[in-house]
Amino acid sequence: MKVRKAVITAAGWGTRFLPITKAQPKEMLPLVNKPLIQYSVEEAINSGIEQIIIVTALGKRAIEDYFDRSFELEDVLEQKGEIKLLQEIRELSNLVDICYIRQKEQLGLGHAVLTAKSIVGEEPFAVLLPDDIIDGKVPVLKQMIRVYEQYKTNIIGVEHISSKDTTKYGIIEPRRISGRIYQVLSLAEKPEPAQAPSDLGVVGRYILMPQIFDVLEVTPPGKNQEIQLTDALQLLLRQQAIYAYEFEGVRYDTGTPLGWLEATIAVALKHPDIGQELREYLRQFL
Ligand code: UTP
Repeated sequence: MKVRKAVITAAGWGTRFLPITKAQPKEMLPLVNKPLIQYSVEEAINSGIEQIIIVTALGKRAIEDYFDRSFELEDVLEQKGEIKLLQEIRELSNLVDICYIRQKEQLGLGHAVLTAKSIVGEEPFAVLLPDDIIDGKVPVLKQMIRVYEQYKTNIIGVEHISSKDTTKYGIIEPRRISGRIYQVLSLAEKPEPAQAPSDLGVVGRYILMPQIFDVLEVTPPGKNQEIQLTDALQLLLRQQAIYAYEFEGVRYDTGTPLGWLEATIAVALKHPDIGQELREYLRQFL
């Protein structure tokens, strides 16, 4: 069955980015002039996704407003003759079918995914973590859908990470199948470097079979007392195969101030309107 739906989890507290995230959803922080979450929405659309389910929480209303229509703003732009901006703003609300569901208690990424169960139903679906911005020639989700179409089972996005960072990622125990594809033999959530089964860390892109929901329902809280998606995937391995795909592209973890700044500079330098001027401005610091 085709992957038609994508879940974007946007309900986390964003503690690594406090204090701004006290009153501002981190998903709405800008990368140049678009909010972070728009990059995941566009990646999903450019990968052929037909419906996007955004998991939100208290204090995240700005996300819904952003993708909604604003007739008042459209009027103002029309009166000012700002036709290009007007088109851009209108297109934004017509991007794709987006629906929202609230995670009432922030009990972890696994729990956030489970919140979308009734909307996803009985079909394979994608999960995107909007903190992970991945710049690839081919959208990473599209690359993963191709792998899914070959293996028709769970696919998780991975990349090589430095050994000191294992405590920040789910780490897989891999068996190489070919090129960039591995069979996952086991998973460990944020292990110490000495316990890590490899240097392949799970990043924020997944294609999951609907059976993950049954597993999530019985997954006990793990690290930080949260229901971890990695723990559920480890349980899912008892009944289904999971493959890992080492995607082609550069990933930025925009969930921290440094990662966000790196992504901002990289994206801005490529931007047709401001890239050249920024490059000249930055020269003085070198
Ligand atoms: P993170 O581990 O980055 O947590 O979540 P966070 O709360 O967003 O940020 P920090 O670590 O406190 O700074 C990974 C993904 O899971 C979502 C987040 O929104 C992010 O996309 N998430 C996490 C939820 O949707 N709900 C949760 O209860 C926890």
